[in-house]
Amino acid sequence: MSSCSEIKKQALKKVKGAKNLKELDRVYKRYLGGKGEVFLVLKNLKDFSENKRKEIGKEINLVKKDIEEAIKEKQEALKEIAINEIIEKDKLDITIPGKKIKKGHLHPITLTLRKIQEIFQNMGFSIIEGPEVETEWYNFDALNIPKDHPARDAWDTFWLQGNEKLLLRTHTSPVQIRYMEKNQPPFRIIVPGRVFRHEATDASHEINFYHLEGLMIDKQISMANFKAVMEHFLKSFFGKKIKMRLRPSFFPFTEPSFEIDISCVACGGKGCSVCKKTGWLETMGAGMVHPNVLKAGGLNPKDWQGFAFGMGVDRLIMMKHKINDIRLFYNNDLRFLKQF
Ligand code: DAH
Repeated sequence: MSSCSEIKKQALKKVKGAKNLKELDRVYKRYLGGKGEVFLVLKNLKDFSENKRKEIGKEINLVKKDIEEAIKEKQEALKEIAINEIIEKDKLDITIPGKKIKKGHLHPITLTLRKIQEIFQNMGFSIIEGPEVETEWYNFDALNIPKDHPARDAWDTFWLQGNEKLLLRTHTSPVQIRYMEKNQPPFRIIVPGRVFRHEATDASHEINFYHLEGLMIDKQISMANFKAVMEHFLKSFFGKKIKMRLRPSFFPFTEPSFEIDISCVACGGKGCSVCKKTGWLETMGAGMVHPNVLKAGGLNPKDWQGFAFGMGVDRLIMMKHKINDIRLFYNNDLRFLKQF
């Protein structure tokens, strides 16, 4: 059996050398555990004389206390080291440059609609919206397109099931009628919105796209006003250099009717593949509002007159940015969308 001082010396040395809590626990068991060195000394006390027993007993108790204290102290120190290691591992280094958060942006159609709206708002036009699900009356009859009229073929759409004849609107023109019913002229409005067509999709046709309708009504709104407004809009949108021309056309809701062309944005009017060698690009339909349309909206054509126009917003962006496939707007391909 080792002497008390020897036990103490060895134990304290081992405590000091323990590299972690596990090692320290082993030291504890070896000296202070149920069958440890200190225990053995106490167990063997009975073999000594009473005086010696007292002496050794006292001494071993002191040794026990010293070892206990040393272990406790070491335990605290090791714990602190362990905590510091964890903190060190999870430490936040505020000097490391942050990860950039990817930011999205508005869709090119939204951006373009906002731009168009701004141009018209500056000319005093209000922005009005209408329902995407329309009645047959508003989408067709009220716009002077009666049932069985061949003009309906140009606006094939999706009909909804039910008692009432409902459909997905093919243009935002019906809002002309809705607005006339509730408002007294003079007024000027534009109507942006989503429209639908029953079409086979290809590079220039989609089953849904965006339209912008315009309407200006007053006592003496003439073709001259119409030309001035359209020219201002087109030059603001495409740039001052473009030229505008009106070409006779047919729409049931206007008389006379026109297509509005601009000089080709790709070749400046010389003729190229974009304008099919004509030097001109078609931008929208327009005309002086047909008396039947005014009547359908509850206005007397003897008192009021004006012009209307309708453009495909997608088409306008395609022209401006030389995009050759309308489907790109609806595919959510970031390589395309990021360019705006
Ligand atoms: N509604 C026509 C379309 O769907 C566009 C249009 C043409 C609107 C002439 C008009 C207009 O107001 O006068 O293509």
